[in-house]
Amino acid sequence: MFITLEGPDGSGKTTQARLLAGWLQEQGYPVVLAREPGGTAIGERIREVLHDPTHTGMAPWAEVFLYCAARAQLVAEVIRPALAAGQTVLCDRYADSTLAYQGYGRGLDLEALQRVLSLATGGLTPDLTFCLDISPEEGLARRQRGGEEWNRLDRETVEFHRRVRAGYLELAGREPRRWIVVDAARPVEAVQADLRALLRARWTGGGAPPAL
Ligand code: TYD
Repeated sequence: MFITLEGPDGSGKTTQARLLAGWLQEQGYPVVLAREPGGTAIGERIREVLHDPTHTGMAPWAEVFLYCAARAQLVAEVIRPALAAGQTVLCDRYADSTLAYQGYGRGLDLEALQRVLSLATGGLTPDLTFCLDISPEEGLARRQRGGEEWNRLDRETVEFHRRVRAGYLELAGREPRRWIVVDAARPVEAVQADLRALLRARWTGGGAPPAL
């Protein structure tokens, strides 16, 4: 099963992904946790280029192709082999991030982006996508409080982050069978409890696993 976590900056995806992976492992499911951009040696190098705050002049389509290059590597090197071996893959951001940030955020053509994404992923789509929803104000404040390093995209305006959030909600509305939107402006434990319960409900409703 291929699960992705999406959402605006500061929504807590990385913390939630780590906790969810630990829980799945405790349940006996072999899990591979990956993150984007990065997750492979080549991808981590590309991540450095993308996040470098001095790269202020990056052309929007150059940004797309860098994210997609990292993603193509991750799919080939990590995600497809893990799924083929029957493992559960949990990915912290995936193709929907490009639609939300470069499409809705930057205003690039969504259909053109879909074509590029489909080439980069070979058409591999998640079985389930959690959207950790939070307002840009709350999300950015959290990142500041957490003392996290600021990346190039954190410098975007609140308006940009508003479009990203609205974009995520639109994507979720278009494919309600794949997406589940979770209110991420709550304590970590409450969000995690929801994710676990939603995953269990999905399994009992016929989604994979459990089959140990
Ligand atoms: P990261 O440090 O992973 O942030 P977070 O912990 O919030 O996920 O940085 C990822 C940044 O890259 C984030 O601002 C979103 C952006 N991004 C895109 O703009 N497009 C993409 O396709 C991906 C994968 C990420």
